[in-house]
Amino acid sequence: MTHKKSPADTCVLVTGGCGFIGSHTVVCLLKQGYQVVIVDDLSNASEKVLDRIDQIVGPEAAERLSFYRADVNDREALECIFDEEPVDCVIHFAGYKAVGESVQKPIEYYSNNIGNTLTLVDAMRDHGVKSIIFSSSATVYGDPDALPLTEESPKKPATNPYGWTKWMIEEILRSLTIADPEWNVVLLRYFNPIGAHPSGLMGEDPKGIPNNLLPYVAQVAVGRRDAVHVFGDDYDTPDGTGVRDYIHVMDLAAGHVAALAWMEGRTGCEVFNLGTGNGTSVLEIIKAFSAACGKELPYVIEPRRAGDVTANWADCTKAKELLGWEARYGIAEMCRDSWNWQSHNPNGYEEEQ
Ligand code: UFG
Repeated sequence: MTHKKSPADTCVLVTGGCGFIGSHTVVCLLKQGYQVVIVDDLSNASEKVLDRIDQIVGPEAAERLSFYRADVNDREALECIFDEEPVDCVIHFAGYKAVGESVQKPIEYYSNNIGNTLTLVDAMRDHGVKSIIFSSSATVYGDPDALPLTEESPKKPATNPYGWTKWMIEEILRSLTIADPEWNVVLLRYFNPIGAHPSGLMGEDPKGIPNNLLPYVAQVAVGRRDAVHVFGDDYDTPDGTGVRDYIHVMDLAAGHVAALAWMEGRTGCEVFNLGTGNGTSVLEIIKAFSAACGKELPYVIEPRRAGDVTANWADCTKAKELLGWEARYGIAEMCRDSWNWQSHNPNGYEEEQ
């Protein structure tokens, strides 16, 4: 009979653990009693996140967290970390993530995202660690033929290098499980993560002009930008604007913890959609955020953005049945928590000017 390891005896290495989804996942892991090791080079995250995590989880849980400032592509640094820490499983978030930038900098995106994954799994193999959860994306479904998207829906060609890196890393990890049946891989395909920790201490803090809808809307609400630019109102959707499956980052974080518990003692490669199953339009988001912040947010209609799909939303039955996980928060709570974060931290993790 095999005994499942308890969280207290399980050490999870989280790459990119200071980023938006990573930091919320680290909080959930610590609250569940896991030992957590963050590896983050802080190239697109703030070290202040670590203080916020400590504040949220409290001193006892914070003792179970260690942090290494290192690039996942730095093989020597990984050697030291795997020598030092009793890692059982890796959750791999670290990677570049701006779709538009990836079109301008394909070499950087392929080299960083794919290169760091190869370095990571090579180091894992050398240290006998063969369990990994990977941050994939609904982007691998491309422009869908049918909705909702199930894990069986076909992968379609990506429309940008960022999307291709997710697409290819999925295949790389799947190949590992074919070559060596001891590997244990979970691919989590996120829909659109938004929201923030309900405490207002952690949230999304994009550098420069936000590419994604929610951080942009939040910056309009806080007065950092004039109006929301709505990319297209002539789509074949009820109000003409693009429809997405927005998911609260706390639900997403809980999905990782559920996947971690489920995969223990297993092998092979399994894919899960993490979404809510509901589609929301751009105009509905602006309306919900206006309600959350108590003022009408101005918007202007712009042409469509290249590469955007009309609509996508997930079928999350598989995650519910196998992981016992489903999203709990709705759009109103996502906007409430995003506004709470943005209004208390108008400049993100940076100090007030
Ligand atoms: N949008 C606007 N104005 C903005 C930003 C976005 O109208 O300023 C619209 C888009 O056209 C789209 C919707 O808001 O209809 C959502 O756009 P986001 O940029 O927030 O998110 P995407 O769906 O384009 O991208 C997200 C993730 C990617 C991932 C992709 C596909 O950010 O990492 O989903 O799954 F690749």
